[in-house]
Amino acid sequence: PAVVVLISGSGSNLQALIDQSLCGALDIEIKAVISNKADAYGLERAKNAGIPTHFISHKDFDSRESFDGALKFLIEQYTPNLVVLAGFMRILTEEFTRSYEGKMLNIHPSLLPKFKGLDTHKRAIEAGESEHGVSVHFVSAELDAGAVIIQARTNVETHDTPESLAKKVHALEHKIYPLSVSWFAQKRITYNAGKAFLDNIEL
Ligand code: GRF
Repeated sequence: PAVVVLISGSGSNLQALIDQSLCGALDIEIKAVISNKADAYGLERAKNAGIPTHFISHKDFDSRESFDGALKFLIEQYTPNLVVLAGFMRILTEEFTRSYEGKMLNIHPSLLPKFKGLDTHKRAIEAGESEHGVSVHFVSAELDAGAVIIQARTNVETHDTPESLAKKVHALEHKIYPLSVSWFAQKRITYNAGKAFLDNIEL
């Protein structure tokens, strides 16, 4: 399957996808990596892997709609079967999310539905959570609210800081994102009427 990955930053999840596909564990072709930040290190990772890259800035557009339209136009050049958001830090319009319904995944660093939005590690510690983690989900119009495919969890220890927790969660991300994408590539993960299924079993 053809995949387009959207990023805004470091791209360690992108790297995990690249590594897994290079070693043959993940049967996808990453056609392009698109960033809305010019200095995203993930762009370097993509270039090092010989993947075409694009930078598109919302500052060049006068509305959210026109930015998303241009982003969609760019994505469509590669006719992807799947769009993967890997640390893409921009809220997408309802129209954009609708056009990729069931074909766009996101990874969010919390045990959804807890802690949607930003600063999840800090918020989990402040809330006194004993467990924290990460979720892969289909993208729907509402932020961080689409059907969850898989979650991985870790204990929150008394000495944990947002940084130490982020590190533990990142290690989990690099396992479950390639796994979810491989399930999608194998058509084991499907989407129907807002719900996610694995091997036809509702998740
Ligand atoms: C990850 O924590 C992911 O859960 C969140 O953004 C971060 C991206 O990290 N959506 P990276 O750019 O893949 O290293």
